[in-house]
Amino acid sequence: MSISASSEDRGQWGSKLGFIMAAAGSAVGLGNIWRFPYVTGENGGAAFVLVYLACVFLIGVPLLYVELALGRASGRNPVGAFQKTKPGTPFVITGILCLMACFFVLTYYGVIAGWTISFAWSQATQNALVFEDYIANPASVLPVFAGFIALTIWIVSAGVEKGIEKWSKILMPLLFVLMLVIIGRSLTLEGASKGISYYLNPDFSKIDGKVVLMALGQAFFSLSVGWGLMITYGSYMPKSQNIVTNGLWVASADTLVAILAGFMVFPAVFAFGMDPGAGPGLTFVTLPKVFAQMPAGALFGTIFFCLLSVAAVTSSISMLEVPVSYFVDDKPSARRKSAIIVGIAAFLIGIPSALANGGSEFFSNMELMGKKGFLDIMDQVFGTLCLIVISLALSIYVGWVWKTEPAVAEIEEGCPWFAKPLMGSVSPACVWAFFIKFICPIVISLVLINALGLFDKKEETPPAKDKSNTEQPAAKQKSAEDNSSSSSQ
Ligand code: PHE
Repeated sequence: MSISASSEDRGQWGSKLGFIMAAAGSAVGLGNIWRFPYVTGENGGAAFVLVYLACVFLIGVPLLYVELALGRASGRNPVGAFQKTKPGTPFVITGILCLMACFFVLTYYGVIAGWTISFAWSQATQNALVFEDYIANPASVLPVFAGFIALTIWIVSAGVEKGIEKWSKILMPLLFVLMLVIIGRSLTLEGASKGISYYLNPDFSKIDGKVVLMALGQAFFSLSVGWGLMITYGSYMPKSQNIVTNGLWVASADTLVAILAGFMVFPAVFAFGMDPGAGPGLTFVTLPKVFAQMPAGALFGTIFFCLLSVAAVTSSISMLEVPVSYFVDDKPSARRKSAIIVGIAAFLIGIPSALANGGSEFFSNMELMGKKGFLDIMDQVFGTLCLIVISLALSIYVGWVWKTEPAVAEIEEGCPWFAKPLMGSVSPACVWAFFIKFICPIVISLVLINALGLFDKKEETPPAKDKSNTEQPAAKQKSAEDNSSSSSQ
């Protein structure tokens, strides 16, 4: 079957900007605005930011190219991409893992996204929410969760160009403007400079192995790399588009938003004498207190939480799109129906996560792999372990099984200088291939060993605290614990 014929049926990005906005929309999410500032706060500020930047550009971006090349070369969803590029290898399981990761992460990402909607409303109406009480109440959590999933379904049903691309092009600039407004407010508060120096003056003594691993995990989560998502988004990319520069745009936009999120949060947190290391509660517990004390705080609080919701929706549509693309590849007319069915399934499977912070004793107290509560466990299994396994498999597959040559040939289309020698006889393609074959598998294996807790055991560190530091999105569920403790004070 010809790729171009099927691409038209499946949908395609209408423009370079459309791709960049949609992919950046996927990458920019709760991970940047909610998670990045508190992880930075917990890991010592500026020094962590530098390590994070290295992780994004040395490991994250090469893997982003892997996914985009695999997607565009095959013109398929993650499962089809493995089947088509090298039929009959066990790596097709990786594709299935990609669908599962996106689907199951959506089930609890939507829950947290629902919280952001309620907090926006609470700021607008000046009806303060006590975080731990709020998340424990199914009657408040479930309707916003359902609403959020319905919105996601609606956008995805409208298709690649008319749904995802169109809305990303509207929502991403809006997000940027809202951020600038909050930053303006935050930087002009009295005492803001302490926060700025915390954020900008690195203390290198704070960097250790854990900080590096934490930074790498955050980079994967934030860039949406390792979920097969960029395979799907790459499959909608016309051959004329440049994977190298497009990927760099996406990574830079994602990084910029994360860095800017720090400028929203730290000056304000320091200006009001709050603790930057407050953990996941930084957004839902500390910031509302900051807004309460700030002139025109209600307005800025509302803008801030709306911004979080916008960032979350452009990410959740990408999560739903991955399983939907799987069905659309078999039957292009099935988009709407698949979006509705998969979306409703995500809602139903997400209900235990919505109840896992006090709503139901059973789901709040269940334990697996050292994690407590259903949301925590889902995040640990799908949002952390699955993601690392996929990234490892992807680099091994493209480095050693499909081989880097066809991937380089794919990237060269739309980027003719990729395989041309730039420094002596070394081309960007050579450097990239070296990273994919050697550096990425080694570094990711280390992260995996760490995520499985093997380092922890050796060091005999206290489990709960340390694990949350090593596993990126684990934070989400943890928010429940940390928040409840901080909000109750
Ligand atoms: N990158 C998103 C964030 O920063 C999360 C995400 C992961 C979105 C995977 C889509 C797919 O929040």
